[in-house]
Amino acid sequence: MKNITILGATGSIGLSTLNVVSLHPDKYQIFALSANTNWQKMLELCHAHKPHFAIMVDVAAAEQLQNALNSETIVLSGEAALSELAAHEQTDYLMAAIVGAAGMASTLAAAQAGKRIMLANKESLVLAGDILMDAVRHSGAELIPVDSEHSAIFQCLQGGTKGLSKIQLTASGGPFLGVPLTKLATVTPDEACAHPNWVMGRKISVDSATMMNKGLEVIEAHFLFGLSHENIDVVVHPQSIIHSFAYFDDGSVLSQLGLPDMRTAISYALSHPERHNSGVGMLDLTQKKSLEFYPPDLDAFSCLRLAYDALKAGKSAAGTLSAANEIAVDAFLNNKIGFLEISSILEKTLEAVSVVSLDTLDDVMENDQLSRQVARSIIEATCA
Ligand SMILES: NC(=O)c1ccc[n+]([C@@H]2O[C@H](COP(=O)([O-])OP(=O)(O)OC[C@H]3O[C@@H](n4cnc5c(N)ncnc54)[C@H](OP(=O)(O)O)[C@@H]3O)[C@@H](O)[C@H]2O)c1
Repeated sequence: MKNITILGATGSIGLSTLNVVSLHPDKYQIFALSANTNWQKMLELCHAHKPHFAIMVDVAAAEQLQNALNSETIVLSGEAALSELAAHEQTDYLMAAIVGAAGMASTLAAAQAGKRIMLANKESLVLAGDILMDAVRHSGAELIPVDSEHSAIFQCLQGGTKGLSKIQLTASGGPFLGVPLTKLATVTPDEACAHPNWVMGRKISVDSATMMNKGLEVIEAHFLFGLSHENIDVVVHPQSIIHSFAYFDDGSVLSQLGLPDMRTAISYALSHPERHNSGVGMLDLTQKKSLEFYPPDLDAFSCLRLAYDALKAGKSAAGTLSAANEIAVDAFLNNKIGFLEISSILEKTLEAVSVVSLDTLDDVMENDQLSRQVARSIIEATCA
């Protein structure tokens, strides 16, 4: 029986994880769950899954949850509790499903403690890839990707990486694929969040619409699979059926296919190296009219180009990009800036913040805070 801790339990990935875990009561039990402010959803989850611990990062939300709970779950609050339970001796598997940089410290804590980390929080790798991968190597932790593209590559590489020449991440192109740039200036947050294939949280939905999500995934793949930017391609595949490709020197190309449902990748991260039921239906290719593939348009989707530039620049550049992106996406979701301004804010922040070495978590946090400040002041200047 494995004890599962899910950080970000009230979100899209967190709820899908609970869904898969519930199919296997003989294999898994929920040890701890976390959320930020949504104590009402957490109350439901506590009643349904009876965790030992529930963390509400927000102190007032923790009080509300404590007052409403009539079970034996222990309620904790504050950011430190996330790392404490990620590294807790009774946590066997950690689902890292907090959105953004807020998930980084707890992911690192689990890596240092040698846990199996089921990694949805790609921002951890983008911000602190070298530090996190070092911690994984030193502790013997298992880092299993949950992003569907990286899960696909991870599955394709189970036979080893000998002869691997490149990988190609598939991208749906988001809700605005083929929409002319002139129309994108006025799109609303709800339109940007209406993804054609995947149901996701609002930040990653906007990232998919700008293709920054694919940019973050290119950087994530660099750290996970130890590949240079020249060996990581992106191809637009609007149907989201093929989840990525691994190309080998002998001309072979391996890929993993499946319906666009995150429970497949979550299930694999839980059951690896075996497989078990995820609740996802069988793919029937005879029901699919066509599978299309296009090269990405880096002029229309300049966020993807910026991510490649940041990866080439190395050191702190990817962290700067991700921090600025969190601020710009938040401003867009709150109607402070237009959709097309997201990429220009990222470009200006990358120009303004120096690229420095990141040797410690403090260096990472300092660069993250500075980049956020710079992005905020660029937004203020844009709105003035
Ligand atoms: N959704 C997908 O299909 C998908 C696919 C691949 C990768 N991912 C990655 O998985 C991560 C989660 O995505 P999601 O779509 O599940 O996000 P989401 O639906 O927005 O859920 C985010 C979760 O994080 C919690 N949270 C938010 N801010 C926090 C903070 N400052 N401190 C601690 N917890 C915080 C939220 O709690 P509250 O509910 O209290 O706000 C919620 O539980 C992201 O890194 C995303 O890129 C997602």
